[in-house]
Amino acid sequence: MSDFKDQLAKCASKVDAVLDRLLREQNEDPEARLMEAMRYATLSGGKRIRPFMVVAGSGLFNVAESSALRVAAAIEMVHSYSLVHDDLPAMDDDDMRRGRPTCHMEFDEATAILAGDALLTGAFEVLADDETHADATVRSELVLSLAHAAGAAGMVGGQMLDLLAEENSLKMAEITRLQRMKTGELIGFSCEAGAILGKAPQTSRHALHAYAHDLGLAFQITDDLLDVEGDASEVGKAVGKDADAGKETFVSLMGVERAHGQAQMLADQAAQHLEIFDERAKPLIELAQFVVKRRA
Ligand code: IPE
Ligand code: IPE
Ligand code: MG
Ligand code: MG
Ligand code: MG
Repeated sequence: MSDFKDQLAKCASKVDAVLDRLLREQNEDPEARLMEAMRYATLSGGKRIRPFMVVAGSGLFNVAESSALRVAAAIEMVHSYSLVHDDLPAMDDDDMRRGRPTCHMEFDEATAILAGDALLTGAFEVLADDETHADATVRSELVLSLAHAAGAAGMVGGQMLDLLAEENSLKMAEITRLQRMKTGELIGFSCEAGAILGKAPQTSRHALHAYAHDLGLAFQITDDLLDVEGDASEVGKAVGKDADAGKETFVSLMGVERAHGQAQMLADQAAQHLEIFDERAKPLIELAQFVVKRRA
């Protein structure tokens, strides 16, 4: 696992270098505060799991590293925006994120909303730029896939369901759908992006899709477990929030022990979908174990 953590850290620092370049500081401009908030929200730690998925997936199809890193940066921009808005008083009302004050606490609510907006649109600008890939068809497929994963049928729709879950008690099938939309779709894009960049055959895409499907759920079950069992100083954000909000999760429905079992089972099952790639899939297989064993 420590080898894997080194790989994750190496990938994170490469993605951070690209983000640092894309989110250029504008010390002279009157609107510089916006970029400052965007940089604060994005270049502030985080496990960088989604960028790792993009880079590891790209490794299966001989994709140029510069292309993979730009897509990795774009997905991290969308993810960071989703966290900034998720933490707002109108949503989860959180004060701490990635071990630091949340964006709206450090700046103010309006700036945090705008920083999120600009990170979201900026991500699509990165994907549409020909530096990301020479082939316009590939670029448009990336844009379409990320738009689908991030929007009403994906992450944003899932966030809506998540808010409604505070009022309504949900059944297992409804929670599964909520989690797949809220978290699973962006993870799905991250895992499949390498196949899009590498113009991979359908069989490869299906395998990665199936991997992401199981891993996305394992990821969110683990997030919900950390909310129950984690330590705020270790996870870098408040814990006990889901129960306080009266939110039904896998953990509230099946209990801590069964939730651990389910997450582990899904991680193992995720890895099995990658058998067609032989040992080249090792980084993604190790990632699946990391996702369910993490403490943050
Ligand atoms: C947290 O995601 C938000 C969810 C989708 C549950 P991560 O656990 O990947 O957060 P960071 O990027 O490492 O901070
Ligand atoms: C948020 O889920 C997932 C997003 C789409 C941002 P949570 O509300 O459970 O994420 P945390 O626990 O605050 O990171
Ligand atoms: Mg939330
Ligand atoms: Mg939250
Ligand atoms: Mg959570």
